[in-house]
Amino acid sequence: MEKVYIETYGCQMNFADSEVVGAILSTAGHKMVTDLDDATFILINTCAIRDNAEQRVRHRVRELRATQSRRHNLRIGILGCMAERLQQRLMTEEDNLSLVCGPDAYRSLPQLIEQVRKGGQASEVELSTTETYADIEPVRLGSNGISAYISIMRGCQNYCSYCVVPYTRGRERSRDPQTIVDEARSLFEQGYREVTLLGQNVNSYSWPEVGFPELMDMVAAIDPLLRVRFATSHPKDLSDRLLEVMASRPNICRCIHLPVQSGSNRMLKLMNRKYTVEWYLDRVDSIRRHLPDCSITTDVIAGFSSETLDDHKATLDLFQQVRYDYAFMFKYSEREGTYASRHLPDDIPDDEKTRRLNEIIALQGQIALENNRLDVGHEYEVLVEGESHRSREQLFGRNSQNKVIVFDRSDAQPGTYRKVKVNNCTAATLLGELV
Ligand code: SAH
Ligand code: SF4
Ligand code: F3S
Repeated sequence: MEKVYIETYGCQMNFADSEVVGAILSTAGHKMVTDLDDATFILINTCAIRDNAEQRVRHRVRELRATQSRRHNLRIGILGCMAERLQQRLMTEEDNLSLVCGPDAYRSLPQLIEQVRKGGQASEVELSTTETYADIEPVRLGSNGISAYISIMRGCQNYCSYCVVPYTRGRERSRDPQTIVDEARSLFEQGYREVTLLGQNVNSYSWPEVGFPELMDMVAAIDPLLRVRFATSHPKDLSDRLLEVMASRPNICRCIHLPVQSGSNRMLKLMNRKYTVEWYLDRVDSIRRHLPDCSITTDVIAGFSSETLDDHKATLDLFQQVRYDYAFMFKYSEREGTYASRHLPDDIPDDEKTRRLNEIIALQGQIALENNRLDVGHEYEVLVEGESHRSREQLFGRNSQNKVIVFDRSDAQPGTYRKVKVNNCTAATLLGELV
């Protein structure tokens, strides 16, 4: 029996996967521990999306050498997207690693661990066209008991030209809707009040007779007190049907993450995003029509191949027009094996990428602050999550729009809904009081 400590990097899907890994290992008789000092086996679930994500993990693996030299029995394994991308090469380059396991091979982890204990290294990186881990009930590691992730589909085959995910996660496949609804219901019965349905492209979810809008409706029907969120939607697949379902179900949260990547049609084409700025803005209009109080958030990449100052300006203009509530903003990072790495030169100098990124960040900060100011004076229903990071006298929660609201503790309990009136704000947080 091992004492296993899992450390997770990357997107929400990776955090959901770590909980599946926790379940597989617990069933096999291992013990999951929350303190690294207790561990006999450390598993690092990794992300390969940008070079800096990989460098962070490499740094961490090297840092753990010191711990290993003090505890000779301690083994380290790599899971997730870096495992899939680099495979056995990773164990050659980082010789304190004993195990490499890709995202579709987690069921073989018990055998791989056994193999390591017999002496030596073990790896399994086969991708699958069918694996969804549908029958595995995740062990909610580090959960607050209030909100949980539910993985509803895996993989991506959109092949955006810059992106490594189709290579690390394999083909798209959806999970049996009944298992999704059962998992959500069981969470609700355990006291959870919020579930987030996850997929690289959730709105291409598909099962005979059940598309993504129907699935959302089924999950939202479990109980009006269960909040339902989802991430991430691809703009090309954001249907009016989904917006209609959302409008008819107040417990589906008023927040849509709609990654745009660039405001220039020329860039979108080179990125193989399969939509235009006009199409994107039409989707934004449709969201505003169906759900006037819906917040919209995005992802954007600065300095992709051949991006001109005009292309960059088009992105800034789009940000002005849409007025996002939040954005994840990145510098382009070339990824080996992608279409862009083979055909589109990484030709914007790093300091120019940084300059453009900083311009977007500054603009977005200003827009987020202005948006938040519009919320001052309004009352929101907040799902209370816990103590504020800054003061024990204050609690925080989120409104349906996914904005964090901080307020004085009083008698509010985590896991309950309370009405909060917003009195003040920063660019990142709303400040309010219980009504
Ligand atoms: N499936 C989601 C996003 C997954 S990755 C979608 O398509 O919207 C999260 C974000 O990382 C992407 O939206 C993109 O903005 C960014 N990203 C992906 N590849 C990147 C790269 N090579 N360099 C910089 N950012 C990248
Ligand atoms: Fe990557 Fe595009 Fe798939 Fe998103 S949709 S994961 S950006 S290939
Ligand atoms: Fe990273 Fe893999 Fe998610 S590359 S963003 S952990 S799917």
